[in-house]
Amino acid sequence: MIISLGCDHIVTDTKIEISNYLKSKGHTVIDNGTYDTTRTHYPIYGKKTAEKVINGEADLGIVLCGTGVGISASANKVPGARVALVRDTTSAKYAKEQLNANIIAFGGRITGLHLIQAIIDTFLESEYKETPENKALIDKINAIDTKNETEVGNDHVFDDLLEKWDRGEYHD
Ligand code: RB5
Repeated sequence: MIISLGCDHIVTDTKIEISNYLKSKGHTVIDNGTYDTTRTHYPIYGKKTAEKVINGEADLGIVLCGTGVGISASANKVPGARVALVRDTTSAKYAKEQLNANIIAFGGRITGLHLIQAIIDTFLESEYKETPENKALIDKINAIDTKNETEVGNDHVFDDLLEKWDRGEYHD
């Protein structure tokens, strides 16, 4: 796979470890920076990394900053990005299987390298399970960032899902 990878200055060392790990597994890495420990700003790298996924240059993305919060929020602002900030393999599997997440995010100062590697393995090996329900939900999530008249300020976008809940059709 081709993986788009980005980080801020706090976790460049961890990003390099991840890059080397991915390459050792036969993946191609697009390293969007940052490349050293000079103070910088995580939105730059969240945006760059997500854009490579959305424009098709990369299959999936991985972003990390100190907590993972800042860079995941930034990457998620790129239309079409579905970013999951994860700290465990169960969440990573869910993110890919149910929401077809195209980017995962880590807090490089929160989660240890070996766990990050295990989570990456799970995310890359998991496959999206398309069902009418998952597709409908993802379509609705994607529609939020189109900023069109029907979605912005419309509090009824998810009414049909709430009605399904009321009818007892959700079982998790
Ligand atoms: C440093 O800018 C630090 O705030 C950042 O890496 C991250 O932890 C934010 O979520």
